[in-house]
Amino acid sequence: MAIIEAYDLMKHYDDGAIKALDGVDLSIEEGEFVAIIGPSGSGKSTLLHMLGALDSPTSGRILIDGVDLAAERDLAGFRRRTVGFVFQLHNLIPTLTAEENVEIPLVESRLKRLERRSRAKELLSRVGLGKRLDNLPTKLSGGERQRVAIARALVNGPRILIADEPTGAVDSENSVRIMELLKEINRSTGMTLLVVTHDPEVAERADRIIRMLDGHVVEREAAA
Ligand SMILES: Nc1ncnc2c1ncn2[C@@H]1O[C@H](COP(=O)(O)OP(=O)(O)O)[C@@H](O)[C@H]1O
Ligand SMILES: [Mg+2]
Repeated sequence: MAIIEAYDLMKHYDDGAIKALDGVDLSIEEGEFVAIIGPSGSGKSTLLHMLGALDSPTSGRILIDGVDLAAERDLAGFRRRTVGFVFQLHNLIPTLTAEENVEIPLVESRLKRLERRSRAKELLSRVGLGKRLDNLPTKLSGGERQRVAIARALVNGPRILIADEPTGAVDSENSVRIMELLKEINRSTGMTLLVVTHDPEVAERADRIIRMLDGHVVEREAAA
């Protein structure tokens, strides 16, 4: 069953002078690992923001697990429960350790401090950083920081993980390792993954590639 559906999605800026999204239709099955590729400015980030309920479209409909986002009253709560985000620049807080950064999304949960710590530790081990819990972001490599960001995105147990160029700022070897990690998470948890990348080699690790151009989906294909 589709966990994400979009119908004729538009996002216009400047009274329609800029059509960041210009009629996108798509359907993503629960558990799919989808890569979105396309040139800079083609609307990839805008699409992720809409699908992740970070922003609302000018027109069109988005259903997440059958629920119309336009009808969802508590969008922030919905987002917190359902979606995890990873951005190109990891957005870690520089004065907090890896473990504290991963705990941040749990602050609004009912978990006690010790439970939050153990959850953060478990996720950092999962991404291969079990021995780096107390490191500040400045003591980690670019690839390691992205792993912390992935652990943080997973900490609330989202059904959908959305990543916007998660490998955009790391070298190609680490890019491949990050995609392998995402794939492992996808396989072992059945979490739906939506990853934007400009790197075709990275995209080929997904189950399906959606190609964008000028605010449209131009092509859908199975990955190699
Ligand atoms: N807040 C905004 N105001 C005006 N134009 C925007 C805004 N956000 C994005 N755009 C424009 O929308 C288009 C798509 O942007 P974006 O989704 O960021 O593309 P991509 O992620 O594929 O590089 C670009 O032309 C961009 O300049
Ligand atoms: Mg972008």
